[in-house]
Amino acid sequence: MWRIDQKRIYFDKDLPNYIVNNMTKERPLRKYFPKINGLLVKLRELSISDAMNNSQLMTYNISKSLWQVPYPYTIEDAVNFISSSHRDFESQKAANFAIQYKNNPEDVNRLVGTISLKNVNFDKKKATVGYWIGELYWGNGIATESVALVITFAFSILRLKEICAYVFSENKASIRVLEKNGMIKKQELNEFNKMSGRYQRTTK
Ligand SMILES: CC(C)(COP(=O)(O)OP(=O)(O)OC[C@H]1O[C@@H](n2cnc3c(N)ncnc32)[C@H](O)[C@@H]1OP(=O)(O)O)[C@@H](O)C(=O)NCCC(=O)NCCS
Repeated sequence: MWRIDQKRIYFDKDLPNYIVNNMTKERPLRKYFPKINGLLVKLRELSISDAMNNSQLMTYNISKSLWQVPYPYTIEDAVNFISSSHRDFESQKAANFAIQYKNNPEDVNRLVGTISLKNVNFDKKKATVGYWIGELYWGNGIATESVALVITFAFSILRLKEICAYVFSENKASIRVLEKNGMIKKQELNEFNKMSGRYQRTTK
């Protein structure tokens, strides 16, 4: 398990000012989905119109690093994910964001990946972060900034105190993203991954 607690919140001096709209501290995930504006990325609510793009970007190289994402990933799979994201937001369990890349030469409004704040537990003040970025866009700092923004949002707006992430030990790029965000490795596990059909070392 990779973990960051509020005491270790990491504010890079280059981390942009972010804007979170329509939040209330009483029921922070209520009603309006947050929009978070970074330097490189914008995080916004997923829409059913993202489904085609989501399905096309979900290549094998991405799905093999995730726990519950089938390959091939059909448009129907994407629609189901987006619909369940809307339900999970309604019930205050998760905020699954679409990531837009501001330097995307094709279309700045296009989804290039997703980042999820899931298993949100307001009583224990904990949540888990999970993310993927389309292969075309790797290496531009998109995941690093998206994680920074979501952690900042979770601590400062949702008032959570601990964020965890689970990553396969062989996933060096993702581990680097977590390290760059000040997260610390807490535990190593050997877990069966249904998607790959084998046990894989996982750090959590
Ligand atoms: C992991 C992932 C999200 C990274 O996205 P990204 O936008 O390319 O990440 P960033 O550009 O912000 O940062 C990647 C960092 O990893 C480093 N990196 C990339 N490949 C690496 C490797 N094989 N070994 C070590 N470091 C590596 C990069 O150099 C960069 O670090 P740096 O800024 O210090 O140079 C993306 O590769 C992905 O979606 N992978 C598949 C899904 C996944 O793994 N999700 C996370 C599950 S826990």
